Amino acid sequence: MNPLTTRYLGPDEVESVASILTHGGIVALPTETVYGLAGNAFSGECALKIFKAKERPSFDPLITHVSEKLLSGRGGVLNALVEAGVIDRSTIAWRTAPQVERLIHTFWPGPLTLILPRGSKIPDEVTSGSPRVGVRMPEHVLFQKVLSLTGFPLAAPSANRFGRISPTTASHVRAELDGRIDAVLDGGPCSVGVESTIVSLEESDHGTLIATLLRPGKISRAALELALGIPVGDGVGLGEKNQKIAAPGMLDQHYAPVKPLFLYPGPFPSRTVLDSWIRKLGLNGTPAFLCQHLKSSECLDPEDLRSVLTPEADPETAARALFSALRSLDEDAAVDFILAELPENTEEGLSAAIADRLNRASVNKPLLKR
Ligand code: TXA
Ligand code: MG
Repeated sequence: MNPLTTRYLGPDEVESVASILTHGGIVALPTETVYGLAGNAFSGECALKIFKAKERPSFDPLITHVSEKLLSGRGGVLNALVEAGVIDRSTIAWRTAPQVERLIHTFWPGPLTLILPRGSKIPDEVTSGSPRVGVRMPEHVLFQKVLSLTGFPLAAPSANRFGRISPTTASHVRAELDGRIDAVLDGGPCSVGVESTIVSLEESDHGTLIATLLRPGKISRAALELALGIPVGDGVGLGEKNQKIAAPGMLDQHYAPVKPLFLYPGPFPSRTVLDSWIRKLGLNGTPAFLCQHLKSSECLDPEDLRSVLTPEADPETAARALFSALRSLDEDAAVDFILAELPENTEEGLSAAIADRLNRASVNKPLLKR
């Protein structure tokens, strides 16, 4: 790949960012969840640049990010999306439109991606040929400023190389994509820290809405059910008719550090029990312990290498710290393998998201049993 000179831009340089995007460039932008690698969502060529920079397989579709200006459209957000060419009304009768509008007005702008029928202006390259498109209205003020300057929606996957840990700071993006992209807009650390909740919406033959959760995130299943007034099916790792989805965000191996990562269903037991597990797994070298909270680190020896996600058992702080912690343990030369504690209560949105990302980061490694 020919190296590009990546420009590092600050929050007062959104005009330069918009200009690069308007000229067909690709730029990493902050969102409230993770940094995204953005390009014109109406351009197949821009989508291909994104796939190339990330070394992402072409079958994994990109999410299209839209402006919050669509919220004020008089005919509703769905109509505004149809008029913008982002979604289509042909494959869905929209008898359920009021339910979907309610969902949109509850959570947009914010960390929720909806999978809807794809509109005429979204090229095959963005959706990997799928007749459906992922749409998200991010909340981040800088991302929204860029969207209002470009006037076109932005296709943006997380700004990491394929299969790697998602970036939550501009320096993470530099470590992943320096020399591969035109610019990085530094908006400081991301406030949520894990990617958006993804929900697929379809209409049944009887005109009722079918909602399926494809990726857990900050917006919990319970919150979605409350807004929609229907149960939300579990499709994490599954597609229509329960087939495995050919999309790596939902594939098993993802978000992975380079070092082996093993899971322990929290809370961590005594160091002696942990040692016996390490021996059973046949692991040599120095472990690092990823603790969900301070209390669960009490079993460790003072000299043990560790990362504590949150002082209190607070899922918001834990989610914000997760990818940074994984990245720094991965980069620490003193660490040979990582033992990560899974959150105890995985019902809540962010705890479910943390457990999901850790499970994918540790795939093919044995799950430690209590
Ligand atoms: O929070 C987020 O969603 C971040 C920020 C940058 O917005 N983006 C993100 O994108 O996580 P990405 O590409 O890393 O993960 C999006 C996942 C993909 O793995 C893909 O499986 C799924 O969304 N996806 C996108 N479009 C889809 C479609 N049309 N049908 C099914 N799945 C889709
Ligand atoms: Mg990703």
